[in-house]
Amino acid sequence: MIKIAPSILSADFSHLGADVEKLAAWGADWVHFDVMDGNFVPNITFGPSMCKAIRPYTKLPIDVHLMVEHPSEWILPFRDAGADVITFHVESSEHHLHRVLQQVHAAGCKGGVVLCPATPIETCLHLLPDCDLVLLMSVNPGFGGQKFIPETLQKIRALRKAINERGLRTDIEIDGGVNPETARACREAGATILVAGNAVFRADDPKAMISTLRG
Ligand code: DX5
Ligand code: ZN
Repeated sequence: MIKIAPSILSADFSHLGADVEKLAAWGADWVHFDVMDGNFVPNITFGPSMCKAIRPYTKLPIDVHLMVEHPSEWILPFRDAGADVITFHVESSEHHLHRVLQQVHAAGCKGGVVLCPATPIETCLHLLPDCDLVLLMSVNPGFGGQKFIPETLQKIRALRKAINERGLRTDIEIDGGVNPETARACREAGATILVAGNAVFRADDPKAMISTLRG
């Protein structure tokens, strides 16, 4: 079953609670929450206090995508703010990725690592048994509304093969430029969770769009 995780980066920040509240009725599975620190990526969004503020507006799991340096420092603040899933970048300043995954699990959250478009999947293979999911970026992180990088499809296929060969059930999440066309290609390549910002929040009929993206 494919999960759709609308990214509230594309929501109306002046009515964030109202937008988050709509997601369950639209058929979304997770709420994707993009945290940017203006350092790891050239943009700033929001932190744990915003996560806490939207938490009462939905029962859906909140999927926190940490685009920050020193992600280990943010695990407990986000867990306490109501996060259910926490992912962090292998390219961040964190040296001990395995330890950070253990910290995420010890905090009671699902966890996984994120790879930028230029990062080979080999960087996460030894972490797979400890990842509930791996997020492959299909754009360079920092902004919504960018074009899907087609090379991502090869990475999805190779990662799905590696996961299957190990007998694991790790989810592959894709983030960036997901639309009906690229969603289909990602599903066929072996992705199981699709993040979509603009495709959902700019759609005339977000509910129909989520259903189309799920396939
Ligand atoms: C980009 C974020 C994405 C972004 C996706 O750095 O991680 O989650 O919101 O937006 P779209 O779907 O519009 O490309
Ligand atoms: Zn994201």
